Amino acid sequence: MFPLRRNRRLRSNEAIRSLVQETIITPNDFLVPLFVVEGKNIKEEIASMPNYFRYSLDLLEKEVKELWQMGLKSVLLFVKVPENLKDNRGTEALNPEGLMQRAVKTVKNVVPEMLIMTDVALDPYSAYGHDGIVENGQILNDASTEVLAKMALSHAQAGADFVAPSDMMDGRILKMRETLENEGFTNTGIMSYSAKYASAFYGPFRDALDSAPVDAKDIPKDKRSYQMDPANRTEAIKETQMDIDEGADIVMVKPGLCYLDIVRDLKNTFEVPVAVYQVSGEYAMIKAASEKGWLDHDAVVLEQTLAIKRAGADMIASYFAKDVVKLIS
Ligand code: PBG
Repeated sequence: MFPLRRNRRLRSNEAIRSLVQETIITPNDFLVPLFVVEGKNIKEEIASMPNYFRYSLDLLEKEVKELWQMGLKSVLLFVKVPENLKDNRGTEALNPEGLMQRAVKTVKNVVPEMLIMTDVALDPYSAYGHDGIVENGQILNDASTEVLAKMALSHAQAGADFVAPSDMMDGRILKMRETLENEGFTNTGIMSYSAKYASAFYGPFRDALDSAPVDAKDIPKDKRSYQMDPANRTEAIKETQMDIDEGADIVMVKPGLCYLDIVRDLKNTFEVPVAVYQVSGEYAMIKAASEKGWLDHDAVVLEQTLAIKRAGADMIASYFAKDVVKLIS
């Protein structure tokens, strides 16, 4: 008896494999995270993120033009705030002439068609490295959402197309949507980091922005009182449902690879687009192992990207975006 089915027929050469390929990666799949610093002529490599850089605004212009030419049409902006401008109330986050607000204008100015998303959270502005206001060893929820909504408005006023709250305070989406609507920013979208886990994979990002929680008395050492427990799955559905009900246009799972079950859950449960953030630690792991010659960098990058998309990601925020586009073109 011959095997009743020979599945290998569909794998026997490149042409047939490409014909039956279910998941395809294109430049349209990516949001490109960009780190911005004060100063001039600065392009500094982040120590724990080899070949990833912080840019001053003048060099950001060049980078954004290059991204656009590669077919990468969306950016997610983060700023490194000078230490002397940090406090416990996000004061600098609301400065209309702050670094984020200027970064938005810079990108809009050089590539008007580029979709600009801005990170909304207090950590880069916080003297304590937390995403909200800290008082008596607690991260205040409602006082923080007040500031976050004003921050979102300020980004919209600067020209952001989408605001991307990554703070995990309760009720922040509603507060932001309400503030944006009241001020006439009806077309400004919200991409909510809805299922954001208290992950150990954010380390290199906190290096990039110098935004880690500080080690001091009465300051929580981690973000577990607001980011989700990696042990939980149904909670991701609850969090995401709440953000959609409050007005989120796009929801997100973060980090990527360890949480692909959650990506599939959200994709199967909700009708809104699902974004996935392949975070800094995921980037650093691949860089480190391939620098040692232990992994084939390009092959692993493509495989992970494919896996994230196959799991259900409609878009991927990835530090590998440029690498991937070069590899597939
Ligand atoms: C801040 C924020 C973080 C990331 C995105 N926005 C860090 C954190 O929550 O501590 C992490 C991204 C990455 O690791 O690449 N709210």
